[in-house]
Amino acid sequence: MAVLEHTRLDDARAQTLALIEGVGEADLERVHSPLMSPLVWDLGHIAAFEDLWLAHRLGGLPLLRPDLADVYDAFETPRSQRGDLPYLRLTQALRYMEAVRGRVAALAPSADEPLAELVARHERQHAETMLQTLALAGLREWSPPTSLAPSPAGDGENGRPSSGLELIELPAMSFPLGTGEAAFAYDNEKPEHQVELECFAIGRVAVTNRDWLAFIEDGGYRQSQWWSPQGWEWRRAEDAERPLAWLDGNRERHLAGVVELDLDSPVIHICCHEAEAFARRHGLRLPSEAEWEAAATFDPVEGVKRAWPWGDQSPTAHEANLIESARYAPLPSASLPAGASPCGALGMIGDTWEWTASEFGPYPGFRAHPYREYSEVFFGGGYRVLRGGSFATSALVATPSFRNWDFPSRRQIFAGLRVASSR
Ligand SMILES: [Fe+2]
Repeated sequence: MAVLEHTRLDDARAQTLALIEGVGEADLERVHSPLMSPLVWDLGHIAAFEDLWLAHRLGGLPLLRPDLADVYDAFETPRSQRGDLPYLRLTQALRYMEAVRGRVAALAPSADEPLAELVARHERQHAETMLQTLALAGLREWSPPTSLAPSPAGDGENGRPSSGLELIELPAMSFPLGTGEAAFAYDNEKPEHQVELECFAIGRVAVTNRDWLAFIEDGGYRQSQWWSPQGWEWRRAEDAERPLAWLDGNRERHLAGVVELDLDSPVIHICCHEAEAFARRHGLRLPSEAEWEAAATFDPVEGVKRAWPWGDQSPTAHEANLIESARYAPLPSASLPAGASPCGALGMIGDTWEWTASEFGPYPGFRAHPYREYSEVFFGGGYRVLRGGSFATSALVATPSFRNWDFPSRRQIFAGLRVASSR
């Protein structure tokens, strides 16, 4: 008999429910930012997605609530409009989630069923989206659930402050970008295909708060020459002069509250325009996503691609990379030396999303699966690819081939950058 998939689905549900514990009903139901859905919309959407793919498509049952299909269709209803939808309020949404889970449990999808994997990952991805909403909302009464308490930070490598400006050189190589058919992957990560890379250099660690502070003090936000024309237009329109979550007095708003800026930690809550301006100020650029993935996984001398930067052990089995423990802030850069990739780059998975120079588009030979709206409708829409996963990304989701995407002006993501250079 097939192994049941319930554990993964139930683990994801436990995280979802833990996240909203302590958020008042009114705060769950209202719009906190035009960039984000009301939190309770995410709950109903998670259930509708599960009902569609597991109960309906896989199990052949009619939809439990066909009347809600449009309300929870993420593609048809942009986030900015979701506040006006007739979405289920809290009690009803929780009841709907439970009812869908009940009928899916009765179907008992097997552990190797790709649609069950898709649904479990989908709920995990929404946990990160909900954390972005909570970060923007800055609710006084909410704090991260203690069952997902931050893990202790590392000690730093040899006590040496790290800088994102320290570069590692890589040779020209032929590199297999993307992932094959063996493991679960989203359609946009496939097929694996060879790309030719010129020699390049990439940051050993992500750009740190210390690096960013120096950029600000150096007038980085006041000098148009470092910015692309669109970037400068964005900066002026937003009157941006520091990362979104920075406060006066070198403090930063974290999910767990206001803290002193940790100078050794990666900068987060910057948009792609800011990332590019920082890189240009230093005569550098953002890496392409192919360069990023090669630096994260590939040993050009041996010609071997690792499953993870540190080797082939999954992150949950790898004690130096406890990204499943949801820390609610990035670890100080270089604090997990055992997580180094073949070229020596650190913190590539699970600390901060990293903006790349690549626009989101299909790999050669792309086939939409299982549904067009996951990736295909976004290709060519002016989105930039982000790689690596943040502290809020589940280990189930943040693989080295995973491609996230968003508009270059977005700052709500837990995203920073790693610089690169051509040689
Ligand atoms: Fe979704």
